[in-house]
Amino acid sequence: MNELTIAGVKATELAREYGTPLYVYDQEKIEEKLLEFKENFTSPRFKTKILYASKAFQTIEMIDLVHSFGFCLDVVSGGEFFTALQSQMPVENIYFHGNNKSFAELEFAIENGLQHVIADNLMEVEFLSELAKTQKRNLQVMLRLNVGIDAHTHEYIVTAHIDSKFGMSYESVDCQKAIQLIQESEFLELEGFHAHIGSQIFDLTAWFAEIEKLVHVLKDFDESLTLNLGGGFGVTYTEADKPIPIAENMKAFIEKTEEILEKENVMIRELIIEPGRSVVAEAGITLYTIGYQKKTPNKQYYFVDGGMTDNIRPALYQAEYSCDVVNKLDVEKTETVTIAGKMCESGDIIIQQTKLPKVTTGDILAVYSTGAYGFSMSSHYNRATRPAVIFVKKGESRIVVKRESYEDLLRGEVVYESK
Ligand code: LLP
Repeated sequence: MNELTIAGVKATELAREYGTPLYVYDQEKIEEKLLEFKENFTSPRFKTKILYASKAFQTIEMIDLVHSFGFCLDVVSGGEFFTALQSQMPVENIYFHGNNKSFAELEFAIENGLQHVIADNLMEVEFLSELAKTQKRNLQVMLRLNVGIDAHTHEYIVTAHIDSKFGMSYESVDCQKAIQLIQESEFLELEGFHAHIGSQIFDLTAWFAEIEKLVHVLKDFDESLTLNLGGGFGVTYTEADKPIPIAENMKAFIEKTEEILEKENVMIRELIIEPGRSVVAEAGITLYTIGYQKKTPNKQYYFVDGGMTDNIRPALYQAEYSCDVVNKLDVEKTETVTIAGKMCESGDIIIQQTKLPKVTTGDILAVYSTGAYGFSMSSHYNRATRPAVIFVKKGESRIVVKRESYEDLLRGEVVYESK
């Protein structure tokens, strides 16, 4: 019988060994993506740097993997920074993002050697300037700009999102004050400007508009600064998704940047991108065990042993996925079914209306392309325990995050004897 294998191991074997639900990563697929980014995002004209946006999937093992390919890291919280400190990633390669980094988070990060901050607003810059002075630490500060381009869809909209919670408009009084404050500070240095225009982008034109806007900003500065273009490179969730291949996307980025720099007669110190999803999404597969099946007048359900707690994206964004019954790959897909999770919520649907074979309870379902924002957005809703995460490479599997136990759920709870 034709069975799904992942990096040389049968999916049913992985399910048996580690249990389900299970996040499985094909390590070589991650490595291929890292290499594709690395080999194609280079220019003879300026330095380039790739930060892995670790919010997509962060574990110490993952950070070590991206580090081994020469990537740097984007973190967005004290927790992500702390995790990064436990890895081999040098602290000088960590970039701290976020619109409301707390005093405690920044203090902790700076005490631990943080060198790069992407500041979101004027108040943050004011605080950073005080903190750097008190701690006598130098900090490279990039300012997050709201460039007014929204590329969350296949089309992009200019001047959308002027009220975004992220970043400042370059022309705003706040932004100009922030720049002045950095320039006047003994400890802060203006590293450059950052923008991130959206996620799951399939069209180069929005990025080109972003590059044009950012380069235009640099014309106001004598020194050569860094441009950080953010992430958002699209991936395939279902066959309807046709992302730009990474190599092509990178080459287009570089060429366009070189072209605009030349046209505007501007030099840059460094060009940065921050891919998250595109590094890990397609390398990840979630394995579930199929439980009960049920027919309603208009639907047929296959229930699985996880759901919105391990993949919130369908409920949150109507995200679409594709799947297979791993032990029935060559069985005809005669059924039109809805894959529903086990959580107490009507919206806990993983896939609406897909074609699958007839199944029996205990069959294993693989949902593809779940490597980004699945584990990292997982929750304990309904006291679900978080699934294990495993990496598989060349026929060998290894555990990267252990499955949580019921006891783990109680960690941190305080029970008072006398009430
Ligand atoms: N850089 C910045 C500043 C970002 O805000 C993000 C994502 C990235 C890089 C990485 O974007 P990526 O290459 O992964 O698209 N939870 C949502 C996605 C939210 C992304 C937020 N920012 C999802 O599951 O689709």
